[in-house]
Amino acid sequence: MGGKARREPRAERPLVLALPKGRILEESVAIFDKAGYDLSPVLKKSRKLVRDCGPLQVWILRSSDVPTYVHHGAADVGVVGSDVLLEQAFDLYEPLDLGIGRCQMIVAERADAPVDENAAAHLRVASKYPGITRRYLERRGLSAEIIKLSGSVELGPLTGLSDRIVDITETGETLKQNGLRIIDQVMEISTRLVVNHASLKLRAREISSLLERLAEHV
Ligand code: PRP
Repeated sequence: MGGKARREPRAERPLVLALPKGRILEESVAIFDKAGYDLSPVLKKSRKLVRDCGPLQVWILRSSDVPTYVHHGAADVGVVGSDVLLEQAFDLYEPLDLGIGRCQMIVAERADAPVDENAAAHLRVASKYPGITRRYLERRGLSAEIIKLSGSVELGPLTGLSDRIVDITETGETLKQNGLRIIDQVMEISTRLVVNHASLKLRAREISSLLERLAEHV
């Protein structure tokens, strides 16, 4: 269910777009640019988190907070990775795969110390994605302790904190530089456009136009 925004009524404010800071920000701005929305103010070096970009007001958030803002109806639309969406399991309308930020969710372990999962009495798996990890382990029929981390997950097996990690990889460079090897693939990840259910009805004209214009360029 889309929550109610406690801000001014939707019709009286610009359409609010929640964008994640980090590696997909520039690619997101480029896609919106092709679709005719100039989001260049977002790329200005500054600590400003709110940017007015014509018909859109852009909020710059941590990727993991984008679904929260859209679910509660504070933001009308958002851009976020399918990894974050699957982990958080909010009910959001997800009409478009933007085709950017493609990467893989994988399982990895130390290349020099393979884990014998039949012999391991107590398997420990570190991840920023405990929900996805739990479902993966259930599918594989494996029992393991899941250790939640917030970043630099590759350190887990190197330091003895965990035996394995479940994490995303794009170029493979972080795994390589930390002596880890992929032992299984969990899923393909890409970046999605998400829409609040109430906004979809109340701002139908603007949102359909946004979706149509974006769809032509993905
Ligand atoms: C992500 C991910 C890996 C890395 C993979 O981390 O968790 O650590 O990118 O990218 P690569 O395959 O291209 O090397 P991120 O850069 O988001 O930082 P974090 O570790 O702080 O979460």
